[in-house]
Amino acid sequence: MTGNEIRRKFLDYFERSGHKVVHSSPLLPANDPTLLFINAGMNQFKDVFLGLEKRDYKRAVTSQKCLRAGGKHNDLDEVGKTARHHTFFEMLGNFSFGDYFKNEAIEYAWDLLVNEFELEVNRMWFTYFEGDADVPADTEARDLWIKMGAAPERVLPFGKKDNFWQMGDTGPCGPCSEISYYLGDAPNDPEKNSPFWVNGPGDTTVEIWNLVFVQYNRTQEPDGSFKLTPLPTPSVDTGMGLERMTMVMQNVKTNYETDLIRPIVEFTAELAEPIANRSFGI
Ligand code: ALA
Repeated sequence: MTGNEIRRKFLDYFERSGHKVVHSSPLLPANDPTLLFINAGMNQFKDVFLGLEKRDYKRAVTSQKCLRAGGKHNDLDEVGKTARHHTFFEMLGNFSFGDYFKNEAIEYAWDLLVNEFELEVNRMWFTYFEGDADVPADTEARDLWIKMGAAPERVLPFGKKDNFWQMGDTGPCGPCSEISYYLGDAPNDPEKNSPFWVNGPGDTTVEIWNLVFVQYNRTQEPDGSFKLTPLPTPSVDTGMGLERMTMVMQNVKTNYETDLIRPIVEFTAELAEPIANRSFGI
């Protein structure tokens, strides 16, 4: 399946279930001084999540151009070191604005990955927020994955760094649940396809989709501290890396080898070849 087909399949799947297909917004945020570049699919819906803006739809799906090269979500330092970061990428996402919540979000994700993309359940890992002083553990998400068919030992708790999502210091946020996929050639090896590699080193087990259960607005108080205020209507914001999903579907080892990026690398190599062959008078 090509990267373009994967994008199409994602958009079509959610359109069929009542989501409005909305265009990617430009990379430069139109009206948000808290952001230099768009860093997630939810940015263009920020005010909708906060209840400050109303649209004529309550469900949306997008393929959003994103740039993570600074600020809260900065991939720049990872480029060249991992197989899955490149600062500019496309994020596929489905959104609910006070419509469905955790239950349906997890059902959609499972159905799309297992029944439509036909990913192998014994390569999938699921994570949920383990809870802290401010936000309780999201055992509901854990139980929902197990109800869908995940083996309990493949559903793992993680802390704020991995399983609580916020777009910046302020704004809509909430606990999240991620799906990672084991890409190696030994799925039956309990050492290789193991929890150790989820949010761990290397690229063999890679996060592909993040489901955020948007429940709070994070604001800054005059004394500089931050406060979480529950939102009137819980919502859903998800983000799947198109290039990562393409890496999984095309069974290659890095995002750079997918049909989305490889032609760019090859074209650049062609341009660079005459330069590489020049002696520069040395
Ligand atoms: N907004 C969430 C993320 O970027 C989905 O991971």
